[in-house]
Amino acid sequence: MHIAVITLFPEMLCAVTDFGVTGRAVEQGRLRISAVNPRDFTTDRHRTVDDRPFGGGPGMVMKAEPLARAVEYARRITGPARVIYLSPQGRILDQPAVRRFAAEAASESLILVAGRYEGVDERFIEAHVDEQWSIGDYVVSGGELPAMVLVDAVARCLPGVLGDEASAEQDSFSGELENLLDCPHYTRPEVWAERRVPPVLLGGDHEAIRRWRRQQALERTRERRPDLFRARESAQGLSEEDKRMLADNGRRHDQDNES
Ligand SMILES: C[S@@+](CC[C@H](N)C(=O)[O-])C[C@H]1O[C@@H](n2cnc3c(N)ncnc32)[C@H](O)[C@@H]1O
Repeated sequence: MHIAVITLFPEMLCAVTDFGVTGRAVEQGRLRISAVNPRDFTTDRHRTVDDRPFGGGPGMVMKAEPLARAVEYARRITGPARVIYLSPQGRILDQPAVRRFAAEAASESLILVAGRYEGVDERFIEAHVDEQWSIGDYVVSGGELPAMVLVDAVARCLPGVLGDEASAEQDSFSGELENLLDCPHYTRPEVWAERRVPPVLLGGDHEAIRRWRRQQALERTRERRPDLFRARESAQGLSEEDKRMLADNGRRHDQDNES
């Protein structure tokens, strides 16, 4: 998959190109990241990429023309591509969207536009941007970190990037855990700071471990993310086993409270 990132700070992208899962994907050629700097597409002596906002007010706005030229150049190196502007005003990024980008990777690259300052000239968005995505309801200083969040999340879903053992299907929001959070995880030692690993995980009974993990996933989603839990109930539904597990937990709670 080829992803071009339009950014004034291309060096920042080394966080995804040089480290961990995404770094390995780049090394193996499964993921190609190109940085395109709008400053390289300016025509004035000062290589100006921003200017004061019409109507006054604080801060600067990224100019439309260098951004437009950068996108045109990016399209020449990526081939057919969807242009995404990372913005706090976009739809909040979620796993179904991430999966969709990964699934369409074979036929469509991504061009990610990272804004800076007060943002980018609205006319550039109207003319060149297909979609706007946000990483959450808060504001960061530039679109580079949001772009890297998107790149990392998409890369995990590309075939071969994660081994079978660590398949993205086992993470929260995916596969069996569609609209659910993952269960808790433990590793050695069995006792740490006077806290024991749940005994079921030490017994080697794979069916009991599966049931325990499922119950934990259901319970923590219901408790921590009731919005997600409701989405699970209405979109995928709960199996009879899921319902039994949650009811058992309710009974255990009642007994604990009585004693
Ligand atoms: C300081 S922000 C500008 C925010 C803008 N004035 C607004 O309120 O919508 C600079 C850039 O950071 C990026 N950015 C900031 N917060 C973001 C978020 N939650 N999701 C995606 N991108 C974000 C955008 O690319 C934005 O152009």
